[in-house]
Amino acid sequence: MTEETLTHPLTAIPEKGFSTRCVHAGAARSKPYHALIEPIVQTSTFMFDDTDDVIAYQEARKKGTGTRIEYGRYGNPTVEAAERRVAELEHADGAIMFSSGMAAVTTALLTLLPGGSHLVMTDDCYRRTRQFCREFLGRLGVACTVVPMGDYAALEAAIRPETRLLVSETPTNPYLRVLDVEQFAEIARRRGVLSLVDATFATPVNQRPLDWGVDLVVHSGTKYLGGHNDLLAGFVAGSRDLLATLREGVNILGSVPDPQNAFLLVRGLKTLALRVGHQNRSGQLVAEFLERHPAVERVWYPGLASHPEHQVAARQMAGFGGVVSFNVKGDFDSTRFFLDALQIPYISPSLGGPESLVVQPALNTYYDLSAAQRREIGIEDNLVRLALGLEDPADLIADLDQALVRTVLCGQ
Ligand SMILES: Cc1ncc(COP(=O)(O)O)c(C=O)c1O
Repeated sequence: MTEETLTHPLTAIPEKGFSTRCVHAGAARSKPYHALIEPIVQTSTFMFDDTDDVIAYQEARKKGTGTRIEYGRYGNPTVEAAERRVAELEHADGAIMFSSGMAAVTTALLTLLPGGSHLVMTDDCYRRTRQFCREFLGRLGVACTVVPMGDYAALEAAIRPETRLLVSETPTNPYLRVLDVEQFAEIARRRGVLSLVDATFATPVNQRPLDWGVDLVVHSGTKYLGGHNDLLAGFVAGSRDLLATLREGVNILGSVPDPQNAFLLVRGLKTLALRVGHQNRSGQLVAEFLERHPAVERVWYPGLASHPEHQVAARQMAGFGGVVSFNVKGDFDSTRFFLDALQIPYISPSLGGPESLVVQPALNTYYDLSAAQRREIGIEDNLVRLALGLEDPADLIADLDQALVRTVLCGQ
């Protein structure tokens, strides 16, 4: 399956190819000083020539025709360049950039969910998102129902009169479960509630949830969009009206990014299609290798026929991504031994950059829970999440092989 063969049901406008848009989308042809690259506008505030200028600015704002920025929390040209590019890549009217992925999630939910309202979310997801929805929002009087990923009857049954939002993630962290975004969006529309999907693991290369009818797409830009393990960022993209509401939330909550990070993010986006294409290919090769390996118990990767949502992924995604999760044959300690035996991936909790990173979720993310509590939420002690970087897949496979063989030979 290629980018070209993916269907975009709600998008009828002819457009440039994805790689072309990664390089040019949202950029003005002519830039300040005839510079080829958009400048970093490193300023916290913007000035007026005189009081007439202030009045002209206020009048334009009142009429809704203003384009000038007054203060750094309300906008920045470098940040806007990043927002325009992400919006075009996601087929959105617009996008808002945030200081981190969690800033994007929390600002969106705090803005959209009044006290007394309710949201429904799917279970396998980034731990902090679940904590925010269940615990933090709960303290503010927003109720949350968690339903099993893939159970659309349960999702629909959980909707109440006060439900405002359905929240999901795809592919999920760490089990790479795949949401049927079309069905998810259809339920939300029919029941008159908004839908939001965190598509950090998919990236707009592999899937654009808005094309399938979802209202808002969220990204941790820290991962594939930035793509170099050197910045934190987040995005929400969607329709003009919803973004206007969210922008008011950002103006108050202040979860804005730094112009330096926006510049780095735009630079990273130029190679998004190339990088994710490589990571898709590596992901498939590594997943197939691991599935054949006698020291591996089970592999979780949407590109494998054994994956519970392989058919949905094949229908709705242009590629299956660069994260492969798997269970090593053995226990907590043999899995630790395996991680220590790896020579290329670093033990580090992120994904989407040039360096391959690996974690044992029981150790890295859920260390504070007992083994029984971890099992209850489906986190096995022998689970490994491998986020492939841009190294040669043959080198990564050789490294995985030697580490697995050593784990077995050392009786771990
Ligand atoms: C799916 C997903 N969403 C959101 C986040 C949070 O992003 P950030 O670390 O940029 O705040 C993460 C972080 O790992 C993630 O994996």
